[in-house]
Amino acid sequence: MSGAPRLRAAAREDAPALALLHAACFEDPWSLAAMLDVLAMPAAFGHVVEFDGLPPAAAAISRVAADEAELLTLAVGVAWRRHGLARALVDAASEEAGRRGARRLYLEVAEDNAPARALYAAEGFEPIGRRRGYYARREGPAVDAITMRREIRRGWRSIVAP
Ligand SMILES: CC(C)(COP(=O)(O)OP(=O)(O)OC[C@H]1O[C@@H](n2cnc3c(N)ncnc32)[C@H](O)[C@@H]1OP(=O)(O)O)[C@@H](O)C(=O)NCCC(=O)NCCS
Repeated sequence: MSGAPRLRAAAREDAPALALLHAACFEDPWSLAAMLDVLAMPAAFGHVVEFDGLPPAAAAISRVAADEAELLTLAVGVAWRRHGLARALVDAASEEAGRRGARRLYLEVAEDNAPARALYAAEGFEPIGRRRGYYARREGPAVDAITMRREIRRGWRSIVAP
């Protein structure tokens, strides 16, 4: 890592760099137009992690609807992985979603995405459903999506009534 990472809110101007990051991280990445559309959604918000003078190393985008939030995408550049950036972004998303009134955070993850599943399990997400054949693959059969949910906490205390 070079210097201290900085976590900040994502802006429309980040779209080109975030589309490049997405392309480096996903088999079926969002186009620049899709990235712009997502960032323009009124209920959407995102965060990026960057190091001085470098394009964003990692980013997450979420949206809130009533008291539920969805983590729409999370990507950490290959060179920056296993340094806690994804964990920091999930926590930032959770915090911001809670601030906007959400009580639960949802996401979908490909069943064969072992790093992401390990991350989400470590971060307290629980599997609650499955979408069969949700992710098309260039090679091989489509892969199921696992839907996961986490209660949104402020600090270490859940704000959801038991
Ligand atoms: C999944 C991904 C976001 C993880 O990002 P990251 O910054 O490397 O993750 P972190 O360093 O914050 O890891 C936090 C914890 O998640 C788990 N984890 C993350 N990557 C892992 C891996 N490759 N193998 C096993 N566990 C892993 C570990 O528990 C880790 O804690 P530890 O490093 O203290 O053991 C990253 O690999 C990525 O961008 N992949 C491609 C895009 C993607 O799959 N996004 C998610 C789509 S749902």
